[in-house]
Amino acid sequence: MMSHLFPNYNKLPFEIVEGQGSYVKDEHGQQYLDFTSGIGVVNLGYGHPVVQEALLKQAETLWHMPNLYNSQLQETVATQLVQQIPASEEYAVYFCNSGAEANEAALKLARKATGRTQIISFQQSFHGRTFGAMSATGQESIHAGFGPLVPGFTYLPFNDAAALAAITADTAAVILELVQGEGGVIPAEKGWVQAVAAHCKDTGTLLIIDEIQTGMGRTGTFYAFAHYGIEPDIFTLAKGLGNGIPVGAMIGKAALQTAFGAGSHGSTFGGNKLAMAAAAAVCQQISEAPLQHNVQARSAQLMDGLKDLPAVETLRGRGLMIGIVLADADTLQQVMSHLREEQLLALKAGSRVLRLLPPLTITEEETAAGIAILRRVLAQC
Ligand SMILES: Cc1ncc(COP(=O)(O)O)c(C=O)c1O
Repeated sequence: MMSHLFPNYNKLPFEIVEGQGSYVKDEHGQQYLDFTSGIGVVNLGYGHPVVQEALLKQAETLWHMPNLYNSQLQETVATQLVQQIPASEEYAVYFCNSGAEANEAALKLARKATGRTQIISFQQSFHGRTFGAMSATGQESIHAGFGPLVPGFTYLPFNDAAALAAITADTAAVILELVQGEGGVIPAEKGWVQAVAAHCKDTGTLLIIDEIQTGMGRTGTFYAFAHYGIEPDIFTLAKGLGNGIPVGAMIGKAALQTAFGAGSHGSTFGGNKLAMAAAAAVCQQISEAPLQHNVQARSAQLMDGLKDLPAVETLRGRGLMIGIVLADADTLQQVMSHLREEQLLALKAGSRVLRLLPPLTITEEETAAGIAILRRVLAQC
């Protein structure tokens, strides 16, 4: 039968119909160990009881009210998110529904607050598919056929200190992933990130950190910027914030609030009650120390378990965001298909990187089971 869907996704020929913890099942009852978390979304695992209970409770009360009324739930989640920022300054939160929308809000806020237009981002970056977020994305393959892009975007080489001279008093903002996700799981070097922050400070440029993939505990701290000793002016979240319920957030220094006055920006569904109920439960779970310790321990277990494999050119990442660089794109395809045969789901990033994003709740035994499969498959290629 002809599909009535646009073919814009490269879909695998099976459907996942059930999920519990770190495991999912397809329509034939075949079980898979999921090292993808639905692309870094279901950070607390599938069917997390606390998130589920919060959602069900909210579903019995009220699902939606527009942003024409106060929302205690929005205030609660905003407070939870701001409390996790290791900085002395005050921050404010704007809620939306996805990562691209959170970045749109950040880019619009930066232009409005600075009165400048130039935005600097980095090669291989990924910031989303809407016009602003796509224009910030430093990958030609993502732009192809959609031009003209939003004017004013410049792409610098990543981790390159010399290139930072391009940040000037004409630059509204620099937007940056601390571990480039889709681009190939490439961690930013700490000294370089601090140099970016210093250039921004010197030129009055706003520093936007895209935490859409790295945030919500993924790298072993609530926000990845905690590893880098920087205070972003703005940062963005989505993916793990709702553990599968669509929600995004743009968080900026309180001094920027005046640039986003009433009527300046908005979203019908932004801060929706169901999304906020899920996000409140997620924030509470992710802020707990044992979860963050688990991320660090499982990360060390994976890094240790996957080292010394001849097929692995480089093993890199942070926390439970791990990239395995393979010889080429064909090898990656073969590895991914063998992993599926062995009932392990993984992702690709860039052209030849196998990307692992297991749930942050993954156990030591599940991690060991995943390592055994990975070692077996990687040994064959
Ligand atoms: C770093 C980063 N920014 C932005 C996005 C876009 O998020 P969304 O697909 O929710 O629009 C993604 C999605 O993969 C991402 O990884």
